[in-house]
Amino acid sequence: MTILVTGGAGFIGSNFVLDWFKSSDEPVVNLDALTYAGNLENLASLQGDARHVFVKGDICDRALIDHLLAEHQPRAIVHFAAESHVDRSIHGPGAFMRTNVEGTFTLLEAARAYWSALQGEAKSGFRFHHVSTDEVYGSLKPQDPPFAETHAYEPNSPYSASKAASDHLVRAWHHTYGLPVVTTNCSNNYGPYHFPEKLIPLMIVNALAGKPLPVYGDGQQIRDWLYVTDHCSGIRAVLAGGTLGETYNIGGWNEKANIDIVKTVCALLDELRPDPAGPYARLITYVTDRPGHDRRYAIDARKIERDLGWRPAETFETGIRKTVQWYLANEAWVANVQSGGYRDWVSQQYGA
Ligand code: NAD
Ligand code: TYD
Repeated sequence: MTILVTGGAGFIGSNFVLDWFKSSDEPVVNLDALTYAGNLENLASLQGDARHVFVKGDICDRALIDHLLAEHQPRAIVHFAAESHVDRSIHGPGAFMRTNVEGTFTLLEAARAYWSALQGEAKSGFRFHHVSTDEVYGSLKPQDPPFAETHAYEPNSPYSASKAASDHLVRAWHHTYGLPVVTTNCSNNYGPYHFPEKLIPLMIVNALAGKPLPVYGDGQQIRDWLYVTDHCSGIRAVLAGGTLGETYNIGGWNEKANIDIVKTVCALLDELRPDPAGPYARLITYVTDRPGHDRRYAIDARKIERDLGWRPAETFETGIRKTVQWYLANEAWVANVQSGGYRDWVSQQYGA
């Protein structure tokens, strides 16, 4: 048995692959285009491990996917590959439409052809697991209940619109062709190997460098934070036991305002790596808000708990401490990703 993972050199995908081998020897074929966000250094501990087959390639490349499916005969596809950063989608939505929409379409078509030709248990056991986001549901008002699976799709950014489109394609390929799919919509992840363009790693890295900590708008936007290995265990639970054609929301029951996240990161750094120049919170700088910035996301994760018995193992307090400690212990990783394309992006987004 083998699974095919797409985007397994990115933040969540690489955590998923590393986590997978902690509880399974089932091989993983890892297809990743190694965009700016893909980093094989995340998977360095798997070097020479025959269970992990890395393939550099694009999910829009139908011939390559056909070839990989025929060669490795996976029992499941777990689809992480995407353009994932909202701010980048505002500056350049084209790559999001290509990878998130066209790439998912290409993968679905390849999966359909492969699955249609399977027989017996190989056919009935096959799964296409689509990894998606809570951002497809749009923005909540302060008193609104959290997003349940039945919430209307109201995406507001080019990123969330492209993910919503991909979710709809996955749904349609199940209803029209019977492709055995499951979809998970997860809240904001954080943890090791998180690229420092996203809020939490950016704040850690900037603080350590004595740079401003850019908080968009009034900093009162709310996200529901989930430690990345909890997302991975949720995906494994849905892959193993989820009902075909269903979606499952995965979240941490951790609604926090951005400014509180930044202050928590600063306080942990004050404790673990005090700066002689003074508390890190002195670096907090309010900057122009993100256009169309969603005010609040929150996940109602009761369905996955009720149906599959999944709950997060980490609280926000344990997860954020582990995360800050990981960045302090892995400064070489940070230095290596802060090169080339990353620097160009930072100057485009935040100015010189
Ligand atoms: P990421 O940007 O860190 O990684 C994406 C990976 O996909 C990279 O390794 C990149 O090289 C690869 N990739 C991009 N385009 C590709 C292409 N055309 N072909 C093959 N590979 C390609 O993203 P992430 O944060 O790890 O997110 C993974 C998935 O989880 C995405 O689908 C995202 O929408 C979803 N998600 C993310 C979060 C979050 O908080 N980060 C929350 C919920 C859902
Ligand atoms: P981000 O990590 O980009 O995730 P998403 O936009 O997918 O939720 O941003 C998390 C929140 O932090 C979001 O409300 C935007 C805000 N933010 C800042 O205030 N400053 C920053 O420099 C970044 C990158 C994000």
